[in-house]
Amino acid sequence: MRKKIASLILLLAAFCTGFAKEVTSPSGNIVVNVDVDGAGQPYYTASFKNNPFIKKSFLGFTLKETGALVSDFAVTAMEETTTDDNWNPVWGEVKTIRNNYHQLKATLTQKTSGIILNIYFRVFDDGFGFRYEFPKQEKLNHFVIVKELTQFAMNGDHDAFWIPGDYDTNEYSYYHTKLSGVDATGGGRAQEIHAKTFFDKNATQTPLIMKSATGLYISIHEAALSNYACMDLVVDKDNLILNASLVPNPVGDACYLQTPAVTPWRTVVVSDKATDILASKIILNLNEPSKLKDVSWIKPQKFVGVWWEMHVNKSSWDYSGGQVGSQGKAHVPHGANTANVKRYIDFAAKSGIPSVLVEGWNTGWEDWFGQWKEDVFDFVTPYPDFDVNVLHQYAAAKGVKLIMHHETSGSATNYERWMDTAYRFMKNNGYDAVKTGYVGRIIPRGEHHDGQWMVRHYERVAAKTAGYQIMVDMHEPVRPTGLQRTYPNWLACEAARGNEFNAWSYGNTPDHETILPFTRLMGGPMDYTPGIFKIKMSYYDTAKKEQVHTTLTKQLALYLTMYSPLQMAADLPENYDAKPDAFQFIKEVPVDWDDSKYLAAEPGDYIMVARKEKGKDNWFLGAITDENARTLQAPLSFLDAGKWYMVTLYRDGDKADWKNNPEEYVIEKFAVKNTNTLNLKLAPGGGCAASIKPVTEAEIKGIKKYK
Ligand code: NOJ
Ligand code: CA
Repeated sequence: MRKKIASLILLLAAFCTGFAKEVTSPSGNIVVNVDVDGAGQPYYTASFKNNPFIKKSFLGFTLKETGALVSDFAVTAMEETTTDDNWNPVWGEVKTIRNNYHQLKATLTQKTSGIILNIYFRVFDDGFGFRYEFPKQEKLNHFVIVKELTQFAMNGDHDAFWIPGDYDTNEYSYYHTKLSGVDATGGGRAQEIHAKTFFDKNATQTPLIMKSATGLYISIHEAALSNYACMDLVVDKDNLILNASLVPNPVGDACYLQTPAVTPWRTVVVSDKATDILASKIILNLNEPSKLKDVSWIKPQKFVGVWWEMHVNKSSWDYSGGQVGSQGKAHVPHGANTANVKRYIDFAAKSGIPSVLVEGWNTGWEDWFGQWKEDVFDFVTPYPDFDVNVLHQYAAAKGVKLIMHHETSGSATNYERWMDTAYRFMKNNGYDAVKTGYVGRIIPRGEHHDGQWMVRHYERVAAKTAGYQIMVDMHEPVRPTGLQRTYPNWLACEAARGNEFNAWSYGNTPDHETILPFTRLMGGPMDYTPGIFKIKMSYYDTAKKEQVHTTLTKQLALYLTMYSPLQMAADLPENYDAKPDAFQFIKEVPVDWDDSKYLAAEPGDYIMVARKEKGKDNWFLGAITDENARTLQAPLSFLDAGKWYMVTLYRDGDKADWKNNPEEYVIEKFAVKNTNTLNLKLAPGGGCAASIKPVTEAEIKGIKKYK
């Protein structure tokens, strides 16, 4: 179904200011007003169910040389359109996505300069997006954006979950304060993060989630960040205005552009239900369709890896074994040796897990870190104890794929020089997926992880890997903005504080995973690396105090609550072998879905979601809580009426607790119908996971029926 109604094109003969255009969402819930004031300054306001939640917010730019694109504008044309169509993502949370919005395109002409600027507003039922377009024109060809002056003026001092604004890292813990309480200086104390660039005390990153006193959830982010600098938000605490702030390049400018050019979409997702925020598809809808014609080779998948053992200091990335984890203990075995990799291949094969990631396989790790060195790795030279040919054959014989690892140490110039050679090497040796990484300061020196140069780099990597039919997972990139729709081989990114921080730092607080879906995951899937069964690091070394801040069954629930088409079973094979009954859930849980139902959610507190396996009638459910124990009700009305389903529930043991008793779990089986409501008890820092599969009357004989 595609319906595009071009309505009304208003060409105003004379320049006029003050055009006051109202754009309503298809249901009428959301109304965005766009206008220019007496000084010719464009602005917008927005309301949700008659609640004006965005006050007068100005739009504009400071351009280098050309000057301010702020005021003196007149509206010279307007065009309204409606779109209502459906599309099917290559992989995702749902099979079909509806793209239904009202659009306003306002053409603004700056009277003195004659520069033309188009602004598009697309208003959906769960939020809106807007973007600027610099059309091809006589008065503007090459130009440089020094500042983007977009505002989001809040109507209250909302509760906010935020991380410090930073040009280089998004791996901070979340803060929960009022907007007026934002203080990014705390970021500087995060010693566990290596490359960080503080720039403003009042700065936060997006996606930013806020809750108003009246119970409105507001998420601000961007979509389709391409050939542009990432946007942070600086809070004007007196006026509660969030001001866009673009990441600069080494000479202090933000974006180098040439007309015709567009900015990313600025996105506002809004609802009085927290679950609607999680289910929103606005960001995907605002991205371009897939650039790839043949997508048959793209496979959502689970993987294990020679990885956690380095993070827990059992082995090292570097061959000499002298440089491990962050604890700096010398001389443990080199992890990526042929025999050890074979062990993981065997484990993957017997578990039905398709892939094995191997880090530390290539030369360079001796000085990969902290030197700001340009030529660290060549991405094609294995260490002497890693036999590429033998492992290629061994994995192929077992039906397992190896996942390549390209740590760049932030040296993007070096990586760009090696990319083609490295991808050919991969294809010749049977690899069709790569995990990249950008730990440390960026080269070109002075560039930042989130600046225009690196944004272009990540996109080049996505496009180039696609050209080789390679899937990609990026660690330490700019946070995602839905570009996975355009490059569906770009399966996941880290771009936030992952589970690994629990292994070697003070870790992630028990509410962390209840915040991420409302923030970082709004832009796209995260390679969070769930599935840790050995929760306390004292297991590896009695002196260690670090631990994962969840119970074991919460680790299972994360496969549902943290949507990703690429999910690691991150713990060691021996830890899974010790608990085969719990590992059964990881073996079974799919990574691609026909449907997803967010049943309950509150940022910082809890999330519960049920998802239907792609092409099957099986459902899976995951529920997580913060540091507080709680009971969640899961009505099973999403199941087919009249049918029996068998539930296998993996829940916290009665005395489980993330801190004192994290590994106690209980597995229960019982039969349900869609009229049942499950009463799910979650321990402090706990969670539960369930498979819910259709069964016949005969199959439930002797099985407990849920009451
Ligand atoms: C940081 C990544 O997040 C992690 O997964 C990886 O193991 C190390 N860098 C080494 O590349
Ligand atoms: Ca990382």
